[in-house]
Amino acid sequence: MCGIVGVISDEDCQKYIFDGLKLVQYRGYDSVGICQKNNDTLKVDKVKGLIDKLVCKTSNLEGCKVAIGHTRWATHGSVCEENAHPIEGKDKEWVIVHNGIVENYQQLMCNLQREGEVFKTQTDSESIALLLSLNNFDDPIKNLIWTIKQLKGSYAICAVKKESNNYIYAAKNKSPLYAFCNDKITMLASDPICFPDGDYYKFEDGEVCVAKKGEIVFYNLNGVVIEKQKQKFQPIREKADKGDYEHYMLKEIYETPEALKNLTKNFLNIDIKNIKKLKFSNVKLIGCGTAYHSCLMGAIYFRKFLKIDAEAIYASEFRYGDYVIGSKTLCIFVSQSGETADTIAALLKAKTKKAKILSFTNVPYSTISSLSNIVIPISAGPEIAVASTKAYSCQVAGLYLLVMALKGEKHYYKALKQVCELANETEKFFINMADFAQDIAQKQKVFFIGKDSDYVTALEGALKLKEISYINCSALPAGELKHGTISLIESKTPIIVIITNKNLYEKVMNSALEAKSRGGKLYLISYKPPEICELENFEFCLSLPKVAQPLLCVVSILPLQLLSYNVSVLKGLDPDKPRNLAKSVTVE
Ligand code: G6P
Repeated sequence: MCGIVGVISDEDCQKYIFDGLKLVQYRGYDSVGICQKNNDTLKVDKVKGLIDKLVCKTSNLEGCKVAIGHTRWATHGSVCEENAHPIEGKDKEWVIVHNGIVENYQQLMCNLQREGEVFKTQTDSESIALLLSLNNFDDPIKNLIWTIKQLKGSYAICAVKKESNNYIYAAKNKSPLYAFCNDKITMLASDPICFPDGDYYKFEDGEVCVAKKGEIVFYNLNGVVIEKQKQKFQPIREKADKGDYEHYMLKEIYETPEALKNLTKNFLNIDIKNIKKLKFSNVKLIGCGTAYHSCLMGAIYFRKFLKIDAEAIYASEFRYGDYVIGSKTLCIFVSQSGETADTIAALLKAKTKKAKILSFTNVPYSTISSLSNIVIPISAGPEIAVASTKAYSCQVAGLYLLVMALKGEKHYYKALKQVCELANETEKFFINMADFAQDIAQKQKVFFIGKDSDYVTALEGALKLKEISYINCSALPAGELKHGTISLIESKTPIIVIITNKNLYEKVMNSALEAKSRGGKLYLISYKPPEICELENFEFCLSLPKVAQPLLCVVSILPLQLLSYNVSVLKGLDPDKPRNLAKSVTVE
């Protein structure tokens, strides 16, 4: 799961590749590489680490007219320079970049080794580079077509050939690939965000192309030229920069109130009648990671306010589980990127069962958007940091707006307006959490507890802290602590207690005190300050501003995101690029 970029241009090829790679880095950043080509020569540079390191290492190839680049999230083969792309084939004749997984690579490897080929990397991708040289066809596109017919799995491939025209040969199956061409520049990329403004092509599965200066020729797998319509240019995801912030994550947390305002504005354009027409009687909400937590929150809203049977399911479980769905089921897919492989596969499964498909995505041209009956934009704006923050808040708030609109509430968006007005609170939270983080940064493990929607906030708070601070965090429904996990509570183990529902205050507090009596230290985030007589129970208390109760979860997650950010920075880590993770997981 990786980002790829290719460019054909008389000048600045290197710069286009580096700029493009920065924009698709959200797809992985274990290693990065570039291959430059002039008519005769191919020059490959690659590094383990980030793009700036590659920029320092790479010198310009004289007369360079073509380049391909790759930023990797390792699936097959460890994270090292050798396994970084571009990958060279036999005699360095073909050089490729690949995004996806060659599922039959073991079989291919055995066959290739029998033919005397030698693998120099541990990657599945090398089988593609080796296969390309195996035949001597009159036209290199035939080598590519022959090669991909041997592959099982997913791929977006850009390939260049030594001592040949200044062309890029490209193919796609299941992994995204886009192409752009004007009279100055031709580009290929995993995301059209890399292109200059203008209409572009979206590859479909089973399409290959030869990209040349000023022209892209598409073929089907029979080698027949096909005509393709361009996608109308719509201002693609804004290209974000960090502004004055040290990290994207912090900037994005601070952008939450503005993002919620945009969400409300865009939501008012949704025709709710079209959703009501879907005539559903049960709801499945499906997503991965943080988006799954939004689904859990959405399921609570559906049950609470519409009394509809609603359930949240991990996309990776939905794919293979025996969930009962049919034409009366509304399947809601939540995905910031709209490209998560498990979520796409789950959506395709729901379609075969005739379920109605509604999706919440942050990327209007994404695969999930294009496969859905109805799309509600998350409207969070570009989210670059791997840990999702403002997109989560918008997903939850969007699900709330949907439920309230379906319920027929007249001024359903007004409660959310209150939340949008809380911009100043973020700064107060930051100051509080910077302090609190000093304590948490020393710990090996942290527990989060809450009930109902606060349990979901606990899950998301724990995920945020573990993914960017590497502290072992667990979230539990408050009442479950005593059924096993309490055995892990030792002297000074931190327990973060979240309470936004006054009806549950005492119940949650009882569970918290049980943990305290075993030596735990309690930290409280609550809709109200504790009574004076309770104060001594807590190391730290934060009371939340007053907003409508169902939306307090959109507020209570902010301090937890800021806590994670501060702990990560205190530990000297990069919160924007945590180890082993990627923003968009486009492989199973
Ligand atoms: C990855 C990211 C998570 C994200 C999840 C789902 O695992 O690291 O932050 O929540 O994918 O992504 P999606 O784009 O589908 O919301």
